[in-house]
Amino acid sequence: MFYKLCYTFLFQFVEIPVPSLKKNEILIKIEAASLNQADWRIQKGLMRPFHPKFPFIPVTDVSGEVIEVGSAIHEFKVGDKVVSKLNLWKAGGLAEYVAASESDTVSRPAGISAADAAGLPVAGLTALQALSSIGTKFDGSGTGADVLITAASSGVGTYAVQLAKLGNHRVTTTCGARNLDLVGSLGADEVLDYATPEGAALASPSGRKYDYIINLTDRGKWSVFRPQLSSNGGRVVDVSPNLGNFLASVMTLFSRRKRLSLVILTLGKKELGFLLELMREGKLKTVVDSRHPFEKAAEAWERSMSGHATGKVIVEM
Ligand SMILES: NC(=O)c1ccc[n+]([C@@H]2O[C@H](COP(=O)([O-])OP(=O)(O)OC[C@H]3O[C@@H](n4cnc5c(N)ncnc54)[C@H](OP(=O)(O)O)[C@@H]3O)[C@@H](O)[C@H]2O)c1
Repeated sequence: MFYKLCYTFLFQFVEIPVPSLKKNEILIKIEAASLNQADWRIQKGLMRPFHPKFPFIPVTDVSGEVIEVGSAIHEFKVGDKVVSKLNLWKAGGLAEYVAASESDTVSRPAGISAADAAGLPVAGLTALQALSSIGTKFDGSGTGADVLITAASSGVGTYAVQLAKLGNHRVTTTCGARNLDLVGSLGADEVLDYATPEGAALASPSGRKYDYIINLTDRGKWSVFRPQLSSNGGRVVDVSPNLGNFLASVMTLFSRRKRLSLVILTLGKKELGFLLELMREGKLKTVVDSRHPFEKAAEAWERSMSGHATGKVIVEM
């Protein structure tokens, strides 16, 4: 019988039995996992007292190989390479093995590494959902809009810039000075250093007002967004809302001129398959901040918590 290592709330390696499968689950030998802000915010108590129930193995984004299938599984077989966005309430990704539901799992196309695929689920789907919510077409047929993406160097942001360019948008971004070149290389038309007065004001160097602002920083303010929005239906899509912006979303709910709306990730399997297909075609890539061996997962956790990752933080099993 296999044993696996995992992390509890106190961040300790423990050995517990390999999960037994329900009929609609597959057992994945995890090759790589990626961290998201939600993982450590839950550890800090974001969802207490409802979640998590201990002992708890965190992390939802994994890629690996199927080594066993439940009796009702038809889509996957032993040996398949897969990617899963595990259920937030169960998680289990910071481990050697996880039982994943078929409905949370897609095949990983040949040529895509485990690390690149593991970066995609939460960050890629959040970027996709934000851009889909403003009507972006990803097949080249879109006429494009003026879009600002804040924190473009983040995990979500690095995918969002690439997806926005696939949608033919004119993209302005903010990031720190050290990431200006990287964000430009992802296709951004204008890159603002957030530490400069222009960057803090979100002012486009070419003077354009934005049809849409996709906000990925938790310090974004409606009072700063508002003057930069087009008066003709300009909209903020806030992925990282704070209390002020939550109130702004309520106050502007019926506004036809300028408004702010919130995004909470709801996309899943079908859309994850779409992102992997874009990756297979070479149209989307994962920007990897750092790779950490499983034994040093605590360092990966610290890196994600620092708030200064550029792209995705990966743990390799
Ligand atoms: N609504 C949802 O369902 C959902 C889902 C997933 C994520 N999110 C949210 O999306 C946001 C991004 O998540 P993530 O995991 O991708 O973040 P992340 O990778 O941890 O973001 C870190 C990056 O953000 C940059 N950054 C921080 N503050 C900035 C600012 N004021 N202006 C410009 N850049 C800034 C940092 O640059 P420097 O190092 O240069 O400071 C760093 O490169 C988070 O707020 C997260 O909570 C929401």
